[in-house]
Amino acid sequence: MKKIWIVANWKSNKTIAEALEWVGLVGPKIPKDERLSVWVCPPFNALGEVKKAVQVGGFSIRVGVQNVSQFGVGAYTGEVAAQLLSELADLAILGHSERRNLLGETDEMVARKVAEVAKVGIEPLVCVQDSETQVPAGVKLVAYEPVFAIGTGTPDTPENAAGVARSLKKVWGQNLEVLYGGSVNGDNTKAFLQREEISGLLVGGPSLEADSFLEIIDRALEA
Ligand code: PGA
Repeated sequence: MKKIWIVANWKSNKTIAEALEWVGLVGPKIPKDERLSVWVCPPFNALGEVKKAVQVGGFSIRVGVQNVSQFGVGAYTGEVAAQLLSELADLAILGHSERRNLLGETDEMVARKVAEVAKVGIEPLVCVQDSETQVPAGVKLVAYEPVFAIGTGTPDTPENAAGVARSLKKVWGQNLEVLYGGSVNGDNTKAFLQREEISGLLVGGPSLEADSFLEIIDRALEA
C-alpha cells in the first residue's frame, strides 16, 4: 500500500483567525484513510493555535513548519530553534527555493538545519529544485519543486517529475520518498500520484483555500 503525503505550505499567509477558520473547515472533512498523511505548515504566527485546534478537534492532519534555525537554542535574534519548535511541529519544510533565492539559503545551511531537526525528532522535508540538488545524509523525504512551476499555473509533466524522482532515488537511495510540488491542483493530482515514483504532493497556493485543498485530497485517494 502506497502512503500518500499531502503537505500544505501556506508560506507567509493567514492571520490566526484565518488559520483557525481553515482548520475548522478542513479538519472534519479529511478522510480517515490509512494511506493518507496530511500536513499543514502554517507560518510561525499561527503555529501554536493551529496545533491546539487540530488536537482539540482530533483531526487527521499533522502540523509542520516551513523553516527552522540553522543554530541551536541561544543568542540568535529572530531565529527559532528546532528544539523550541519540537513542541509544536513534527515536520519541517527545508530549503524551499523561495528561501534559497530570496534569502540566500545554501545547501550547507540546509544541511545544518537537517542536523538540527534530526536532534529533536522533526522529520525534514527537503525541497530540491532538480535532480542535482544535494540531499543531506539521513533525509528520507524530499520534494521536487522546479522553480518554473511554483505559483505559475504551469506544472512540470508527471513524466518528467517521475524521471527526476527516479534519478534522485538512484543517487540518494531507493527508500527516499519523493513528493512533487509546483502548480498542483485538483485536476493534475491524480496524474502525479499515479506515478509510482511520486509519493505525495507539496501544495502552495491551492492549500490556502479549504475547498481546493480538500479537492486535492479527494483526487489523491482516487489515484
Ligand atoms: P504552488 O507552490 O502550489 O503555489 O505552486 C508550491 C510550493 O512552493 O511549495
